[in-house]
This record gives sequence, structure tokens and C-alpha cells, in this order.
Amino acid sequence: MARKNQTLGEFIIENQSEFKYSSGELSRLINAIRLAAKVVNHQVNKAGLVDILGGAGDTNIQGEDQQKLDVIANDAFIKTLINREIVCGIGSEENDDFITVEGHNDDHQNKYVILMDPLDGSSNIDVNVSVGTIFSIYRRITPSGTPVTIEDFLQPGRNQVAAGYIIYGTSTMLVYTTGHGVNGFTLNPAIGTFYLSHPNMMFPEEGTIYSVNEGNYTHFPQGVKNYIKYCQEESENRPYTSRYIGSLVSDIHRNMIKGGIYMYPKSSVNSNGKLRLLYECNPMAFITEQAGGKASDGYTPILDLQPTELHQRAPFFCGSKKMVEKAEDFMAKSL
Ligand code: AHG
Ligand code: MN
Ligand code: MN
Repeated sequence: MARKNQTLGEFIIENQSEFKYSSGELSRLINAIRLAAKVVNHQVNKAGLVDILGGAGDTNIQGEDQQKLDVIANDAFIKTLINREIVCGIGSEENDDFITVEGHNDDHQNKYVILMDPLDGSSNIDVNVSVGTIFSIYRRITPSGTPVTIEDFLQPGRNQVAAGYIIYGTSTMLVYTTGHGVNGFTLNPAIGTFYLSHPNMMFPEEGTIYSVNEGNYTHFPQGVKNYIKYCQEESENRPYTSRYIGSLVSDIHRNMIKGGIYMYPKSSVNSNGKLRLLYECNPMAFITEQAGGKASDGYTPILDLQPTELHQRAPFFCGSKKMVEKAEDFMAKSL
């Protein structure tokens, strides 16, 4: 039983048996993430104080400039995960290819792969707005004892065994699921401990917030344009409120608490939208479904999509169930 104010460490131990493979390895993995989160939190917090702002001079595979904190966060997670010898492979938004982790005695015995967006919303760092980390965990499908292959990473989101995010906001929170609901833990920075503050998080079935980059309006498909107009119309609980931070983690976190829909549709300039299926959409979709919400590409549940590439993008509609269903209706009507 989740008890409010329980520490994350206690929670992990108490709920270990809920995990169907119950080997304790997943608990060790969440522990490693907890540690890396604290390291990144420390770096994010001092971003305004020391000269770690600005581009690191590299460009990631998506053609975007990397902020220095992207690199720092990526390194912190990779180092912690490799040192703890729990995963057999790591895929990151910031790395062109996946990393093979040999593990103890170089025997490739570890069972899990992790995919992550080490720093989400990084363009918000310069302006002191919340950023996050997103992670997604699968059991490998190739036999243990052999090096991981791309197949281990290209699994449908439905196969995830755990997923979560960290939000470096006014408070730092770690929110995750192992397929038994969603729980949120808030960091007490004075003693470096996460406490259960948001047990059993649920999306309200219906909400009044819509989150979309409306600057792209003219490029959106007709169904999305019609849905946005619907959100703005006067009626019962409408017009809805428009809220868009530009950090996926923060936008979804707010909508999960208050009720809302997040959309990053395809457009005439981005045929698959912008968000990455493996690092952003799948983990957020798993969390959302576990919290009673819905996530799709406008037509198909995100978790049912078969990935074909590590860095592929997907249109994303995610949030309160009834709102996503309404958006899907508009999409279907204007096919
Ligand atoms: P990242 O910082 O990992 O590249 O992700 C940014 C993403 C996501 O967090 C956000 O919702 C979206 O990009 C914002 O994109 P636009 O600026 O195009 O609206
Ligand atoms: Mn991101
Ligand atoms: Mn990122």
C-alpha cells in the first residue's frame, strides 16, 4: 500500500513484488535513476549561477544545437546506469546510436534496456523555466549472454515494463509507473530524499486545458484546426484555457493534475510532428494510460505503434480520456 510521505526507497522495496518478474533488478534500476536525477537536479539548479549555459558546440542527430545541460544530463544518466551494471543497452535522444553495456564480467547478462530523453524542454533553461527527464524501460527480447541489438530497442510501447519522468520545477519530482498505477515523489532538497507526495495519480476524465503550439496553426491538418476551434468555442465548459510551456514533461504533468490535452500534431512542414516516439511519446503514453488517460497519434494508440527507427518521430495527442477522444473524432471526420 502506497503511504503518503513514505520515502521512494521504502516504496521501491515494499512494491518490488508487484513487478511480475520480481527479480529486484527493476528496483535497482529505479534506484539508479533516482540517483542520477539528484545529480541532474543539482546541475539544473545551479544553471543560472555558473557558466554552464548555452550550446555545447555539438549538434544532435535531430539537427538541434545541444545545450550544455543536455550533455551533462546525458552523461549523468549513462554513467550511473553503466556503473550500476543493471542495463544491457541504452538509447538516448542525444546519442546517434544505442550503447551496448557488457555488464559484469562482460557477459551481457543484464535484462533491461532503457531509452531516455535526458533533458526535455532544454530551450527553456536559459529562461529559468521547468525542464525534465523522460525514461522508458523494456526487457530485452534477444537472449541474454549476447550483445543487445536494435530489435531490443524497437519494441512497441505496450511492452514497456516501467516508464517515468523527472520534473525539475519549483519542486523536483520523480513520477513513474511499473504498470500498477502512477506515483509521484517530491524531492526534499535539504536532505536529498524523495517522498511520496502524489500517490495514485489520475488524469481527470475531462478537463478544460488545451496545450499546443498554436504558432503552427496554419500548417496543421484540418481535423486539428477544427478541434482547436471547438476548444475556443463558447459552450458549457468552453472556451478552454490554452496553456503551453514548451516542455513536454511540464505540460503533461500539469494536465495530469488539472485535466487537459497535449497535442503535437503532424503538420505540412513536419510529416510526423516533432516528438520522438521512443524517448518521449511511448513513456508519456504508458504513464498516461496508467493514470486513466489516453494517448494516440490521432488515430492509433501510441503504445500499439511498431517502431522502425531509434529516433523516429510521431504525432502526439495525450491527456484526459474524453478530450483525446474528442480530438480523434475531429481527426476521423476530416480524413
Ligand atoms: P527537447 O528539449 O528534448 O528537444 O524536447 C523539446 C520538445 C518538448 O519538450 C516540447 O513539448 C516541444 O519540443 C516543444 O516544441 P515547439 O517549440 O516546436 O513547440
Ligand atoms: Mn524532449
Ligand atoms: Mn531532450
